[in-house]
Amino acid sequence: MMSFLLKFISLAIFVSVLAPSSSAIPFIVLHGIGDQCANKGVSQFTELLSKWSGSEGYCIEIGSGTWDSWVMPLHQQTNLVCQKVKEMKELSMGYNIIGLSQGNLIGRGVVELCDGGPPVKNFISLAGPHAGTASVPLCGSGIICMLVDDLIKSEIYSDYIQAHLAPSGYLKIPTEIPAYLEGCRFLPKLNNEIPGERNSTYKERFSSLQTLVLIMFEQDNVLIPRETSWFGYYPDGAFSPVLPPQQTALYIEDWIGLRALDEAGRVQFITVQGGHLRISESDMQKYIVPYLNDKSPFLKLSVSRWFLSAWDAMKDGLGLWDQ
Ligand SMILES: *[C@@H]1O[C@H](CO)[C@@H](O)[C@H](O)[C@H]1NC(C)=O
Repeated sequence: MMSFLLKFISLAIFVSVLAPSSSAIPFIVLHGIGDQCANKGVSQFTELLSKWSGSEGYCIEIGSGTWDSWVMPLHQQTNLVCQKVKEMKELSMGYNIIGLSQGNLIGRGVVELCDGGPPVKNFISLAGPHAGTASVPLCGSGIICMLVDDLIKSEIYSDYIQAHLAPSGYLKIPTEIPAYLEGCRFLPKLNNEIPGERNSTYKERFSSLQTLVLIMFEQDNVLIPRETSWFGYYPDGAFSPVLPPQQTALYIEDWIGLRALDEAGRVQFITVQGGHLRISESDMQKYIVPYLNDKSPFLKLSVSRWFLSAWDAMKDGLGLWDQ
């Protein structure tokens, strides 16, 4: 009888100890180029996800917003976000990252390069140019854009452009790979593409994500090719065919741990309808929200382990439980 009662009480305590750890961890949103946290689109996106998931969401601004998203080199943008996430004590127990377009490379920069940052659990990527993009994003066909386009095409990998135009950090012209590896200052490093300069710390950090959700938009005309959202890309030296992620050297030789993550079943390759970043509310609910209100098994496990050992010590001390 005594023993039954004790078991019952211990079960009750066990369950109640688990309960407090089940609140969802916060998330941050990193917006795309030409955007800013104050804009309606991204602020509503953050609010809706926060409301649906019951977790706190923070849009992290970089410098002045729109302007800096164009002109500040990505390693500098990454450093700013790295500093911010370290200062936000709300994130200290871990957080999720949602990247929008260019924001994905900054987010991945934070995962891989941010020394001493809080742990990142899930990474949800919408239209990220993860393997690069072969065209200047978003500019359109205005006269300024045409001039910029010409300038960029001739000088993308020059020090000047690299230091003054953020997207030059991930423009990867497949027919100019040697120039890209030599001159492009951000993506080759982030993707551990440079032979002899691969840093195993980046791989270790990236492959410790719990889940990587890669969302590609079926009608994306901004990212060339759109499969870059999944780490798919052109082969070196040609504009066709588009290789699926599993056929790229980055995956096969596992430069950053994408393959390790995939083989562990921790990568979700998702396709949704719509143009660049045009996600529907139902797809947000389906593909993003579950990773935001996902409770932390790590925390539960450590709390329950702690409880079990405390309980063992207590019952040993009291000489109970043996009958
Ligand atoms: C690799 O990156 C880590 C983290 O940024 C850094 O501490 C380390 O010095 C780098 N290693 C090499 C060999 O560059």
